[in-house]
Amino acid sequence: MQSFQLHKGVSTVSDKSYTHEDWQGGYESLKQEFDYWIDDVEGQIPPDLHGTLFRNGPGLLDINGQRIHHPFDGDGMICRITFSNGHAHFRNRFIHTQEYLEEQKAGKILYRGVFGTQKPGGWLSNAFDLKIKNTASTNVIYWGGKLLALWEGAEPYRLDPYTLETLGKERFKGVLSEGEGFGAHPRLDPSCAQKGGEPCLVNFSMKLGLSSKITIFEQDLQGSMVRKSAHSVPGFAPIHDFTITPNYCIFFQNPVVLDVIPFVLGMRAVADCMKFQSHQPTRITIIPRDPEAKGVQTLEAKSGFIFHHVNAYEMGEEVVVDSICYESIPTTLEPESDFRQVDFDAIKPGQLWRFYLNLKDKTVQRELLDSRHCDFPSMHPQKVGHPYRYFYICAAHAATGTAPPQALVKVDLESGERQIWSAAPRGFTGEPVFVPRPNSEREDDGWVLALVYDSEYHRSDVVILDAKDFNKGPIARLHLKHHVPYGLHGNFTSECFL
Ligand code: CO
Repeated sequence: MQSFQLHKGVSTVSDKSYTHEDWQGGYESLKQEFDYWIDDVEGQIPPDLHGTLFRNGPGLLDINGQRIHHPFDGDGMICRITFSNGHAHFRNRFIHTQEYLEEQKAGKILYRGVFGTQKPGGWLSNAFDLKIKNTASTNVIYWGGKLLALWEGAEPYRLDPYTLETLGKERFKGVLSEGEGFGAHPRLDPSCAQKGGEPCLVNFSMKLGLSSKITIFEQDLQGSMVRKSAHSVPGFAPIHDFTITPNYCIFFQNPVVLDVIPFVLGMRAVADCMKFQSHQPTRITIIPRDPEAKGVQTLEAKSGFIFHHVNAYEMGEEVVVDSICYESIPTTLEPESDFRQVDFDAIKPGQLWRFYLNLKDKTVQRELLDSRHCDFPSMHPQKVGHPYRYFYICAAHAATGTAPPQALVKVDLESGERQIWSAAPRGFTGEPVFVPRPNSEREDDGWVLALVYDSEYHRSDVVILDAKDFNKGPIARLHLKHHVPYGLHGNFTSECFL
């Protein structure tokens, strides 16, 4: 039992699995850049775990002491953990976006952020300034010989995978125009039907307006664009993630409208100008991946708000999609509020839903698979777009209610079994990444890697779990020399960068 300090100053005893104060520690900036072998290890790093985990997320939560309004507005910082012969090496570096360099030089906030960071001086200093900072902080992926930091509002930044030095914006030989978006959630198709079974990367970009445009990109193993197609969808459609099957790209359009006036007047963040329309359906657009194929389909489901999907696959006339769905937008903040004081109890949980899209009858059925608050799923890379049994996800320690993530859960979709490893009361988990054991057959034969913030020591650990068995606890905990602010997404590559 721990005491819990409410932000209104009311002291009360709570049965919560965490304290707000502990959780807040993970939202301090990490200003230093490190480069070292991790020598403080509990347990053993598996010798056959070979390759590099790249992670992205906000490294700075303030600019020279001026606090940013929302972590999603923080400057992107890459963490790289390289595993080789039972040892691990850590390195982190900031992405040198133009905005990062300018603000570091000026020592103050110069740009507005999508999620509410304002320039100092009140709304008058912000009015009619519609230029928004590219934080490059959402995801990082190594593909086609390039390490790319992704942020959906603009083109990616390319980095040197050895030094993490920023090399500049990547436009893929002119496929992207200047400033054109490139989604932060590419999907890797393990065996592309359009390309004779070779793996390919599928991604998209959104151009938002009264009617929105979805552009789909497919790249081969060498990073060359092999297909590109554009599709209009009615209405304002901010889409963060999507999912693929061998034949389709599937987009869930959250029912929101944008009232842009408070943003233009400098009074609100553009993200906080979105209004959720609970009486409107979620629109689901299913686009054939073969650019020659006709027949984009649109289906409707009950309203809900989705950031992330787990996976999708085809079953006869149906496409099955597993997603983390909220009742409403969970991220908006009032202009005067502080995200560190967020009242988790006031947020509805993200829950695991399965959607059955019937392409013949044009109907959607949905089913709640798990009510525990969760988000940031990861699964076996060979099962993307195909029927699958297991995935791994960040979750709340408690089975009910909304709370910061403290647990990692292995979900068995076939048996319904859940295995939970929790870092509560003082630990807070980040996105898990599943890494298959080389030459393994079983879908859960491999490791789950995650950064876990340990508030007791104000440092982060790289936690390695045996994906076959979460119940035995971590097989290794690698203690970093410092904390890493709570991050967003990342990826593993079997290539070793040191
Ligand atoms: Co995301």
